[in-house]
Amino acid sequence: MKYIKDYTIKDVQDVYDGPGGLLWEAVMGEQIHSGGPAATDFLAQKAGLKKDMVICDICSALGAPAHQLVSKYGVTVKGVDATKTMIQKAQERTKAAKLEHLIEYYEGNAMDLPFKKETFDVVWGQEAWCYVTDKNRLIQEAYRVLKPGGKIAFTDWIITGEISKTELDPLYDTMSFPYMETFQGYQETLKQNGFKVLEALDQTEEYAKCFDDYYDKVHVELKPTILENFGQDLFDFASNLVTIWRKAAKEHKVGRGLFIAQK
Ligand SMILES: C[S@@+](CC[C@H](N)C(=O)[O-])C[C@H]1O[C@@H](n2cnc3c(N)ncnc32)[C@H](O)[C@@H]1O
Repeated sequence: MKYIKDYTIKDVQDVYDGPGGLLWEAVMGEQIHSGGPAATDFLAQKAGLKKDMVICDICSALGAPAHQLVSKYGVTVKGVDATKTMIQKAQERTKAAKLEHLIEYYEGNAMDLPFKKETFDVVWGQEAWCYVTDKNRLIQEAYRVLKPGGKIAFTDWIITGEISKTELDPLYDTMSFPYMETFQGYQETLKQNGFKVLEALDQTEEYAKCFDDYYDKVHVELKPTILENFGQDLFDFASNLVTIWRKAAKEHKVGRGLFIAQK
C-alpha cells in the first residue's frame, strides 16, 4: 500500500512562491534538479531530441532546462508550472535570454494539461513529479498530449529501497511531497497507460553524491547568505533537510530514477 500524505498543490505553491524557491535555486542552481545541465544533456540524449521537435516540460520552474534544450537541440518548448512566481521568473529570464520566440509558459496543473491531444514529440520532466498528487493521472495526461510514437522522458525522486512510514514522514514533510513513486511503480504506471518502457535507470548513486554537495553548500558556502537573507529558522530547516535526505540516499532508500517510454 502506498503511503500518501495530504500535501496539495497549494502547499507546493506556498514553497515556490515563498523563500523555498530562492533557497532551492541557491542550493541546486537555476536548473532546480540534481546534476544540473549535465543531467539535462543526459536525458536529452536518452530521449533522442532532434531539431524542430516540440517539447512539453511539465513543472518547468525557472525555465533553465528549457533554455538549454532550445539552444542546444533546436527544439521548441512549452512549459507548464503551477506556481505564479516560477512562471513570472521563467518568462523574465527567457525574455532576457532572447529565447521567447522558442519557449512559452503556461500556468497550469500537471494533472490537467492545457494542451490539445497529440501536440508534442516529447513530454519532459525533471525531478518535480514527486510533488504531484496523482501520478497516474499525470501519465495519462502525458499520453494524451503526445503524438503517436512520441516519447515521455523524465527523472524523478523515487523510493529505491525498503523504507518505513516513520522514515518517510520527515522526508515528505521537509519537501511537502504527497508521496514518491517507486522505481517499479513508475514502470507499471507507464505500461498500464499504454506506454512501452524503453529505459529505466536507477541513478541513486549519482543522486546521493549530489546530496554530499548540497550538505557542504548549506553548512559552509551558503550558511552566511542563508542566515542573513532567510534567518535561523530557515537555515535549521535546510540543514535538517539535506542531512536526512543525504542519509536516506546513501542508504539507497530514496534516489533518482530516469525513465524513457514511447506512446
Ligand atoms: C523542483 S522544481 C522543478 C524543477 C525543474 N523541472 C528544473 O529542472 O529546473 C518543482 C516545480 O514543480 C512545480 N509543480 C509542482 N507540482 C505541480 C503540479 N501539480 N503542476 C504543475 N507544476 C507543479 C512547482 O511549482 C515547481 O516550480
